[in-house]
Amino acid sequence: MSQLRPAKIIQTVSWESGRLRLIDQNALPAIMRHLDYTDWRDVVEAIRAMVVRGAPAIGCTAALGIAMAARNLIAEGREAFIERLEPIAERFRTARPTAVNLMWAVDRQMNLARNTPGSVVDIKDALMREALLMLEEDLTANRRMGWFGADLLSDNSNVLTHCNAGALATVGYGTALGVVRAAVEMGKNVHVYADETRPRLQGMKLTAWEMVQEGIPVTVIADNMAASLMRQGRVDAVVVGADRIASNGDTANKIGTYSLAVVAHHHNIPFYVAAPLSTIDRDLPNGLQIPIEQRDTREMTHIGDTRIAPEGVNVLNPAFDVTPAELISAIITEEGVLRPQYTHSIEAAFDIARKAKG
Ligand code: MRU
Repeated sequence: MSQLRPAKIIQTVSWESGRLRLIDQNALPAIMRHLDYTDWRDVVEAIRAMVVRGAPAIGCTAALGIAMAARNLIAEGREAFIERLEPIAERFRTARPTAVNLMWAVDRQMNLARNTPGSVVDIKDALMREALLMLEEDLTANRRMGWFGADLLSDNSNVLTHCNAGALATVGYGTALGVVRAAVEMGKNVHVYADETRPRLQGMKLTAWEMVQEGIPVTVIADNMAASLMRQGRVDAVVVGADRIASNGDTANKIGTYSLAVVAHHHNIPFYVAAPLSTIDRDLPNGLQIPIEQRDTREMTHIGDTRIAPEGVNVLNPAFDVTPAELISAIITEEGVLRPQYTHSIEAAFDIARKAKG
């Protein structure tokens, strides 16, 4: 075991001097810079264009974006105010379709707006307080997931991950990478294999960047190398994040996650999903109804401005796939490690959370 060491702070979403601040993830790893926002329309566009991405990060960004929009909204009386806020909320809700944290955060803000007594100013204040609370809750949930999940990793283990479910995909610390960070903080040696994650390369650009910042050993692999590494006994566990988990545990995550789960199952390697309860959509009985975002095919056909596919070829570009629950060894949440049958363990986790809130 190595020395105990705390994780570095990478804060992806924040509120600084009246501005919404995001790390510009499209510029990483070449340039680390922040972008500041004062207009909610630009925040919606930042979510669409993936300046900010990752399920919890876009949820918290939308919550802050709505609070920011509310501050600048002029309306006579609370009814008119809420009526004017609705279409703004709808623009956030529909910015990306798969990660349910986005809809969860928008609904939480709009319910708060409707249920806050008092004047328009009271509602505006409540929305800002709630958004900042959501940022804090996300950090706390990630720390707790890390703490629960770290026990699943043995010392000197090789962990394969896909896409980026790290500090950059959350407010900070991360879900899947939070588990890795926590294991390292506990003194375990962990080496990460980061799938490069075509077509947008979140694994190579973002996961690898985070691990390098942290000094956690990381090796980038092309997406088609995972099965071969598993066969050679070089992967001890797979840990990924999630964009939406149905009531039965079926999990939508970055395209390519499903094939990893199939090969991990074939090689008897544990396959873990790390996600907060806000990623669980209890309205959906299973993963068949999870909407899958189809992104611009230019992400496939081009690298930067250079076309790499022949003109006129057909291209598919779904951003996510669904891994069936039976391929998932456990779901790591802030309320503990959930095991199959997920229909029961998910309900139990929500019960614990409800009781803890009082
Ligand atoms: O398209 P992206 O980059 O937003 O996709 C992100 C993922 O698939 C993550 O794994 C998921 O959102 C979990 S983030 C903690």
